Amino acid sequence: MVADTPSLSSPNEYDDFADIYQVWTDTAASAQANLEFYLDLYREAVGPVVELGVGDGRIAVPAACRGQDVIGVDLSPAMLERCRARAMAAGVLDRLAFVCEDFRRFQLDVPAGLIALPYHSLGHVLSLEDKRSALAHVFSQLEPGGRFVFDDFYVTPALVDQMRKVQLRATYRSSGDIDTLLWVTSLVDEASQAMTVVTWEDFLDTDGVLMRRRYRRLHLSWLDPSQARSLLTEAGFVIDACYGGFDRTPFSEATAREQIWIARRPGADVTAA
Ligand SMILES: C[S@@+](CC[C@H](N)C(=O)[O-])C[C@H]1O[C@@H](n2cnc3c(N)ncnc32)[C@H](O)[C@@H]1O
Repeated sequence: MVADTPSLSSPNEYDDFADIYQVWTDTAASAQANLEFYLDLYREAVGPVVELGVGDGRIAVPAACRGQDVIGVDLSPAMLERCRARAMAAGVLDRLAFVCEDFRRFQLDVPAGLIALPYHSLGHVLSLEDKRSALAHVFSQLEPGGRFVFDDFYVTPALVDQMRKVQLRATYRSSGDIDTLLWVTSLVDEASQAMTVVTWEDFLDTDGVLMRRRYRRLHLSWLDPSQARSLLTEAGFVIDACYGGFDRTPFSEATAREQIWIARRPGADVTAA
């Protein structure tokens, strides 16, 4: 079973994470892998794309640069501020709208043709019940024929072993030109399908001696593919595809690295651009 307490990772987790989010994603193979997949998907959409958990605009801003309008929903003001700054720097602020809201509660003025929830972000809603209500709410905000696309971890023993390792994620100069090492490991509890990602920065002096260490945590849970299928179906979705990788390989337990779900609210077909 998915962890049942607390129901949502702290809304402030990403407020505390925002300043390292870009180095975090720049050094994550999974983030590099999903970028083109989502950009291609957004390009096919008619009307604005709604990205839930838009974060710092890692996907939304390049999509806007390619001419797509994006409504970005996020609970973290600090992440939305980074998204706004990124859009401004790229000259596409007019293509983005920002909604500071929980993705279980956002309200659209016009039902969407495409809602995306990229990069394992459903995992931040921790309990199975809250994931169920998130999917039901997404369904309610789609137009008939509109699509909902999300990815989740596909947790295998090999992935758990990898996540439990302590890894040096990046080295960089942080503000004040300080030599910094970014480390990560995870506590993984397979029984409750929950993990705590623990990351820490070591700030070194000019002799390489540790001056200060800062820890941060992110709480996540994951769905088994059978649970994801059930929740989508219960919410009323038709499942168009489940991929095991961002190259759109069909999902297979033997080879999958991710679970990527393409679901649709039944009704009129949305014509691809
Ligand atoms: C892993 S980041 C993904 C950011 C971006 N979509 C990307 O792919 O880089 C998850 C984002 O979801 C947001 N988030 C987490 N729980 C949320 C919730 N219940 N409602 C809205 N946003 C949430 C976080 O603040 C964070 O910005």
